[in-house]
Amino acid sequence: TFKPLVFSGVQPTGNLHLGNYLGAIRRFVLLQDSHDCIYCVVDMHAITVWQDPVELMRATREVTAAFLAAGIDPKKHIVFNQSRVMQHAELAWVFNCVARMGWLNRMTQFKEKAGKDRENASVGLFAYPTLMAADILVYRATHVPVGDDQKQHLELTRDIAQKFNNDYSSRIADLDVGVEMMMGDERVNGFFPLTEPLIEGPAPRVMSLRDGSKKMSKSEPSDLSRINLTDDAETISKKIRKAKTDPDGLPSDVEGLKGRPEAENLVTIYAALAESTKERVLGEFGGQQFSAFKPALAELAVARLAPIANEMRRISADQAYVDGVLREGGERASVIAEATMKTVRSILGL
Ligand code: ADP
Ligand code: NA
Repeated sequence: TFKPLVFSGVQPTGNLHLGNYLGAIRRFVLLQDSHDCIYCVVDMHAITVWQDPVELMRATREVTAAFLAAGIDPKKHIVFNQSRVMQHAELAWVFNCVARMGWLNRMTQFKEKAGKDRENASVGLFAYPTLMAADILVYRATHVPVGDDQKQHLELTRDIAQKFNNDYSSRIADLDVGVEMMMGDERVNGFFPLTEPLIEGPAPRVMSLRDGSKKMSKSEPSDLSRINLTDDAETISKKIRKAKTDPDGLPSDVEGLKGRPEAENLVTIYAALAESTKERVLGEFGGQQFSAFKPALAELAVARLAPIANEMRRISADQAYVDGVLREGGERASVIAEATMKTVRSILGL
């Protein structure tokens, strides 16, 4: 069987926010104790839509600083930016030749991101999932902590791995480069693992503070809709004070949050930051008004996020250090990626 390895990535686009932290980065930190991890700033994914080059470089360093500030250890694990390791792009091309048009046509994220003007979307935006499959499989990673927005892409990654293993099965056997694994009920020798989502640990979906039906996002125009990881205490308090709520107070149980997405979101955020549950938060605050709950939430958010923001500022001030982490991480990642690609090339006859 394959050695357990975690891979995940975050795009360097715009402002990192509380949703990125609670849904992704905090889990990355927790996984370090139990797994070998590779965490990647996926700058080549970012350019599937046009990016200002100077802003892209700034954002790449900011995401790296956030990883480090949140507690990811770049000595024990690997932290780097995608474009340093060209094998990602090379394997993505191979996967473009393995994946089928019909598979990519079913991806809902492309439909959302391309919008109505699909003819004008980049080819890269359409092929994004094959690059994501390459990110994961160039390390033959077995586990990916994903938010539910990425589940469909991870399923596609498994489909690509399975088709590759199948299309080249006799060559994999001839070269003796397979690893014994189960495909369905069949025991086979595959070269790529069927990577699984890691669902352990809390990964709440954080919604916009202005509209409980939308997820908190880097691309939402209103800055009041999200808490950025770089916000200071005063800004965090103001955004929570202005967060949309309904006229009722907090219910005494979770049942009472049904159909009240804004109220549910604030309780979810409190529970996540306190490492508690919605039940317990309502046990404490049930029956109170939002005017009482919001200051408590703001205090908690500041207590949890201010140290990270301070650490991000400290780390970001030392650009040479950040660049050094990425360079060294890129070198270590390249060694693994090149070993995979050597074998992939000979499997394919390239
Ligand atoms: P965004 O969607 O804001 O552009 P990314 O696509 O770069 O952010 O996502 C980076 C990580 O953060 C992914 O693992 C994604 O699942 C997670 N994530 C993004 N937004 C949220 C949110 N509102 N709540 C929880 N997790 C989120
Ligand atoms: Na996303």
